[in-house]
Amino acid sequence: HIMRDISGLPELEDALESLLDVSQCIVVSGDSEESAWVKSELGRACLNSIKSHLKDENIIAVTGGTTMAAVADALTPDFGGKNLLFVPARGGIGTDIKNQANTICEKMAEKSQADHMVLYVPDQVSEEVYNSFIQEPSIRKVLGKIKSANILIHGIGDALTMAKRRNTSEEDLQKIIQEKAVAEAFGYYFNENGDIVHSVQTVGLQLEDLEKISHIYAVAGGATKVKAIKAYMKFAPKHTVLVTDEVVTKSILKG
Ligand code: F6P
Repeated sequence: HIMRDISGLPELEDALESLLDVSQCIVVSGDSEESAWVKSELGRACLNSIKSHLKDENIIAVTGGTTMAAVADALTPDFGGKNLLFVPARGGIGTDIKNQANTICEKMAEKSQADHMVLYVPDQVSEEVYNSFIQEPSIRKVLGKIKSANILIHGIGDALTMAKRRNTSEEDLQKIIQEKAVAEAFGYYFNENGDIVHSVQTVGLQLEDLEKISHIYAVAGGATKVKAIKAYMKFAPKHTVLVTDEVVTKSILKG
């Protein structure tokens, strides 16, 4: 019955914030899976909000995916009035080039006339490789920047969609299915209670880093992600700003 009183976006935002118990939700009209325009709106809305939080020097960590690509597309040179450095949040070679965090960082830097760094590390590494990678000076330099990021922008995906998009081993895929994972964000898989049930071992941002990042933006929309967004938001640090669309918001509020 809550839906009867809610039609405007600010009301939807307020209702979603209190239901998800997060500091801020930004809702754009429409369905971002159905319309490229709405997906761009997610990007613009996210960037508008970030703009108001920029300091003199900023390190912005970003993940990959088509939504982050839309955020990159929405960037303009006037955004780069401040000192900006874009870094990929985690190692992510393995998925297709255009959706990799490295590529997205490069594009963000180009569009805002800012700087970026890349992380040439696969999105899944063995413990042995992981331990030797983090000793590598060129990688350590980027990791140092990631650890001091003041802003993080990340996507949220459906668990199985993401497991299939990555080169997930059959063993891990079975684990993800068995543990009933429904959501994925920055390499972590979550069940519908927001508990972590699996994670991809790679360098870069780790869970314990989240609390130290002043501004976290989770950007995701579209009817097929409702379950994933609901689940992830149960886990999300309370200071996360969720940027989503009307379709997701109305569906979550309906319960
Ligand atoms: O692979 C990077 C990533 O940000 C994932 O963490 C997330 O689940 C996914 O991309 C979202 O992708 P898309 O925006 O294409 O749905």
